[in-house]
Amino acid sequence: MSGPDPDSAARAHMDFTRSLGYGEYLHLDTLQAAHQPVTAAHDEHLFITVHHVSELWLDLIVRELTLAMTQLAAGITDAPLKGLTRVVRAQEQLTQAWEVLKTMTPADYLQFRDAFGQASGFQSAAYRLVEILLGNRHATLLGPFAHRPDVHARLDAALRAPSVYDLALRLLAARGLDVPAAVLERDLTQPPASHPAVLAAWLTVYRDPVTHWELYELAEKLLDVEDNFRRWRFNHLTTVQRTIGMKGGSGGTSGSGYLQRVLGVVLFPELWDVRTNL
Ligand code: HEM
Repeated sequence: MSGPDPDSAARAHMDFTRSLGYGEYLHLDTLQAAHQPVTAAHDEHLFITVHHVSELWLDLIVRELTLAMTQLAAGITDAPLKGLTRVVRAQEQLTQAWEVLKTMTPADYLQFRDAFGQASGFQSAAYRLVEILLGNRHATLLGPFAHRPDVHARLDAALRAPSVYDLALRLLAARGLDVPAAVLERDLTQPPASHPAVLAAWLTVYRDPVTHWELYELAEKLLDVEDNFRRWRFNHLTTVQRTIGMKGGSGGTSGSGYLQRVLGVVLFPELWDVRTNL
């Protein structure tokens, strides 16, 4: 066959002196410059990479949750399902990251552990923001951000605004289900507590999904998010146990004991209770 091969790599763009190329568009120099191990330990590179990648996924989750919540607040139910599905998929990526990190043995970790002092994921602003948007609210968890007024202000504002679950409950009420004013006007700075009237409202939805399809789909999607959140927490805990055992955490908590306790956090209580009562 003669003539130019349309699939030839030689036809690809080669000159980027005047146009934006891949590396420039993605600012890869900046991205790689952020990767700064403080020791020569081989596994510190892996440790930093998994944290960086996790932070990027957490940022994406914040973005998607924020959009979904804006839509829910406007009474829209179908578009948020797309955003929440993306959250669920991103959570799967976050959870998969433990598989790579688990290849680091305790001895590998000890080669650089002392070098990062008191730094800990406990101080991850993106993680705290995800938790706050989902409804896990404790003002004390904002403590590590006191030295960053901009970050603190963002977390504090989210702590005083409705969570995704508060918005779902407002939607239940807007669709005519009985959600008490005490729930709709609750102190938003506190985590949610199971309420019998909210359980009764979800029971109405779950007993007749066809009639309440949009609310049913939303509830099941929220449950997917909490399910995945628990998986991430559980895999974090087991990774921590196999890496540092029962030693205290670099962030100052008891370590595994603390992580075991937060495993019991329930974000959307009535969505779990409804199963028991059906
Ligand atoms: C071998 C690696 C790791 C170890 C040994 C470890 C250890 C710990 C420990 C002991 C805590 C409790 C707080 C404290 O430090 O006192 C913690 C919290 C936390 N870590 Fe990790 N971690 C590891 C990897 C990661 C990675 C890759 C991420 C990804 C972002 C992460 C995110 C977090 C978050 C968000 C918290 C706060 C959890 C909460 O308060 O609910 N950790 N970690």
